[in-house]
Formats: sequence, C-alpha cells, structure tokens
Amino acid sequence: MSLDKENRRPLRLIAAACSNWGIGKNGGLPWHLPTEFKFFVDTVTRVSRAGKMNLLIWGKNCWYSNPESLFPMSDVVHVVLSKTLSDVPEHAHFLCRDFKAAVGLTSLPHIRDLVETIWVVGGHQVYKEGLEHPWCDLVYLTDVMADFNCDVFFPMLDRRIFIKQSRFPHVPDEIQEENGIKYKFQVFKKQIYRSGDAVMTE
Ligand SMILES: NC(=O)c1ccc[n+]([C@@H]2O[C@H](COP(=O)([O-])OP(=O)(O)OC[C@H]3O[C@@H](n4cnc5c(N)ncnc54)[C@H](OP(=O)(O)O)[C@@H]3O)[C@@H](O)[C@H]2O)c1
Repeated sequence: MSLDKENRRPLRLIAAACSNWGIGKNGGLPWHLPTEFKFFVDTVTRVSRAGKMNLLIWGKNCWYSNPESLFPMSDVVHVVLSKTLSDVPEHAHFLCRDFKAAVGLTSLPHIRDLVETIWVVGGHQVYKEGLEHPWCDLVYLTDVMADFNCDVFFPMLDRRIFIKQSRFPHVPDEIQEENGIKYKFQVFKKQIYRSGDAVMTE
C-alpha cells in the first residue's frame, strides 16, 4: 500500500504521562481521571466535516485494557496491532501486523474518503513509531503532575522538534484537578526543518 501524498492524513498521538513519563501500570492506567479520559474520547472522535471518521491505532495490550463501557465508540475506525492475534478483536474493525500496514489502510478505496485524522493511542512501541512517522504533526500529551509507579513509559519526545503550544483549539488552558491529582492538557507541534535551515511548521 502506498503512503503517497494523496493518501496523507494528519497523524497524531494522544497520551497522558506523569512526572517520570509513566503511562501505565499492570496493564491499566495508574490513575483514575474520568475528565481526562473524556477529553481523550472527545478529541479522538472530533471531526471537522460531517460524514468523516478518525482512525485509531491501538497496541494489543492497550486495546484489551479498555473498559467495556468505552464501546461502542461511535464513528471511529479501530485498528489493533498484533503479530500474534489471529482474529480481529471484538469491537475492532481491523487487525494489522505492523504500523505501516495500519497507516496504509488510508489508501484503501473504501477508507480513503472516510478518514480525516489518524490517532495513535498507545502503548509504548506504537507511540514510538507514531513519533517517527513523517505524517506526525501533533502530540497531545497530558501532564499528570504527580509521581506514579509505572511499568510502561512514553517514549522520548525531542523538544527541539516538538514545540509546546501556548494555546490550542478545544484544549483547556488551566490546570485541572481530579481525585486530588493535578494535570494539564498540552499540545506539541512538530517543526519541519527544510533545506536552507529555515525553521518552518506545517
Ligand atoms: N496514559 C496513557 O495515555 C496510556 C495510553 C495508552 C496505553 N496506556 C497504558 O499502557 C499500557 C499498554 O501499553 P504497552 O506498551 O504495554 O502495550 P501495547 O503497545 O498496547 O501492546 C503491545 C502489543 O501490541 C502489539 N504491537 C505493538 N506495536 C506493534 C507493532 N508495531 N506491530 C505489531 N504489533 C504491535 C504486540 O502484540 P503481539 O505480541 O500480539 O504481537 C505487542 O506485544 C497499559 O498499561 C495501558 O493502560 C496508557
């Protein structure tokens, strides 16, 4: 499947990480932040044009860690990555063997006109491949302002390439607090370096 310009879609990451960049513990989230989770759902389901949908790329563990209450999650295309699963998991739409195949779905005729944005929703390896993908333009990374004992971590975010935005549409500015935990929504935008050393953003 080709990743040509015509099939190109914005590819974005969304995660919440605590002070040590931890994102998960024992197959689940280390914290209980319902409003943060609602922000996640609202963000990945939002489209700018009627009739469009977003495509979500899930690692297998992340997919199975979802609460059953998340489903049905309306109007999104769910893609699960696994080299070992033999069937598409319940509630998912596609099973892909690697990241490239998942992104390549946007070149399929019946998907091409449907998908507006590709959202990479974890875990670690899937985020890493998302950050390295040439279509990646934004990273939504909630700063959970506390220390949690974690066993899965967000990959290194190169702050020379991903620049924190001071304001962003649909993203509250102020520090949030739930269950005694403070957190802040953040968006990082990828700078594109082109010849001539001019720093540009797409
Ligand atoms: N805080 C947050 O925002 C956030 C977001 C997402 C997840 N999480 C947490 O992170 C943890 C899950 O993340 P994780 O890193 O352990 O696991 P994961 O990425 O969800 O799942 C790992 C599995 O997914 C498959 N996989 C991943 N990348 C693949 C690729 N490029 N190609 C083919 N298959 C691929 C493999 O399955 P096979 O072994 O079957 O090949 C791999 O063993 C949970 O604790 C979850 O709650 C937190």
